[in-house]
Amino acid sequence: MAATIRLVDGLVLFLFILIVVKTGADQEILKLQKPRLIKCKFDKIYQLGDSLSDTGNCFRERLCGSNSVCSRPPYGMNFFHKPTGRCSNGMLIIDFIALESGLPLLNPYKLQSANFRHGANFAVAGATALPNEILANKKIVNSALTNSSLSVQLDWMSSHFHTTCSPDCPEKLNKSLFLVGEIGGNEFIYGLSQGKTMDESRRMVPQVVQTIIHGVKRVIGFGTTRIVVPGNFPIGCHPIFLTKFMSNNSTAYDEYHCLKGLNNFAIYYNHHLQQAIDELKKHYPNITLIYGDYYNAFLWLLQNAVTLGKCSKISFVFPIFKVKLLHINGEAKIVIYIYELS
Ligand SMILES: *[C@@H]1O[C@H](CO)[C@@H](O)[C@H](O)[C@H]1NC(C)=O
Ligand SMILES: *[C@@H]1O[C@H](CO)[C@@H](O)[C@H](O)[C@H]1NC(C)=O
Ligand SMILES: *[C@@H]1O[C@H](CO)[C@@H](O)[C@H](O)[C@H]1NC(C)=O
Ligand SMILES: *[C@@H]1O[C@H](CO)[C@@H](O)[C@H](O)[C@H]1NC(C)=O
Ligand SMILES: *[C@@H]1O[C@H](CO)[C@@H](O)[C@H](O)[C@H]1NC(C)=O
Repeated sequence: MAATIRLVDGLVLFLFILIVVKTGADQEILKLQKPRLIKCKFDKIYQLGDSLSDTGNCFRERLCGSNSVCSRPPYGMNFFHKPTGRCSNGMLIIDFIALESGLPLLNPYKLQSANFRHGANFAVAGATALPNEILANKKIVNSALTNSSLSVQLDWMSSHFHTTCSPDCPEKLNKSLFLVGEIGGNEFIYGLSQGKTMDESRRMVPQVVQTIIHGVKRVIGFGTTRIVVPGNFPIGCHPIFLTKFMSNNSTAYDEYHCLKGLNNFAIYYNHHLQQAIDELKKHYPNITLIYGDYYNAFLWLLQNAVTLGKCSKISFVFPIFKVKLLHINGEAKIVIYIYELS
């Protein structure tokens, strides 16, 4: 089934209550008063991806960390009061998913001293779905200076499970949630920035999508049963790309001053991803596998930015989302709410 976005629930946005619980070891644990995913009974969450979900891995890679703007203020300023490696001044989608599940925020895998009892985050800002060697054959360079593509992250995950759940992973991962993505957006940005045309980028889409599907199969192989595979945002609306791909031809922009070419590309990519997920589902009838529609969630925020009143069109690079998994008439649905903490 397709993901649905419940727009009418926009008003729920500001009813969200966050409390900070101080525990013994001066460790702050965030808790929601009424976590909305609590009924899903997730006990662990695992994330693979890029800057949309990295909570501190790139930050801990020598080259990636020193190269990334997300390692420096103003990133982290409003919420954590210091850079954490998140490419946001606040929280990320995955932070909200964890909180709404009644779980602690996911620790980055590269923080070796961390507690991974409730899952781990393998996402690396700047990562691609395709390995860097394959990109190199296409003359595309990972300008974020990380080699930690999806397959590398899956290798980390594999060794993590080897020490934490093997040989009983299917039972131990029985109540876990996996997010495979968003991943597979950066290679196109690198390509387009390095002179690839839209047509060349479109021709790369099936390979990227197949790489993600292969990743999902590996995740299923670990024994999990609940997986969300998010697509990409309307990247033509992101200030970072509005700047990078600026045009002085007004026909390049839509009514929201987003770059039509980039958004059409994201639609094309998401469509292929969604089709591949639907196909995969046929082979795994017992697994809850859903597409996460980040595209329309973002668009809704942008279109309602003025009425929401708190985010100006230009100020956010990565807005804050809340994702809800629901079972409606036996079908898994994902509902995404978007809002800003202030
Ligand atoms: C990525 O891997 C290649 C090949 O091993 C190596 O030359 C390069 O330095 C690595 N890049 C980073 C950013 O680690
Ligand atoms: C977890 O495993 C139990 C027993 O094997 C099974 O009955 C249950 O449906 C599983 N739960 C999920 C969420 O897969
Ligand atoms: C816009 O047009 C001017 C003059 O034709 C040109 O010099 C400039 O490079 C163009 N800028 C962009 C971003 O295309
Ligand atoms: C602007 O872009 C449109 C569509 O690509 C093109 O037809 C038109 O010639 C361009 N105008 C200028 C001034 O470059
Ligand atoms: C799915 O679950 C049903 C009922 O438990 C079982 O009979 C069937 O073999 C399973 N199918 C697959 C593909 O695992």
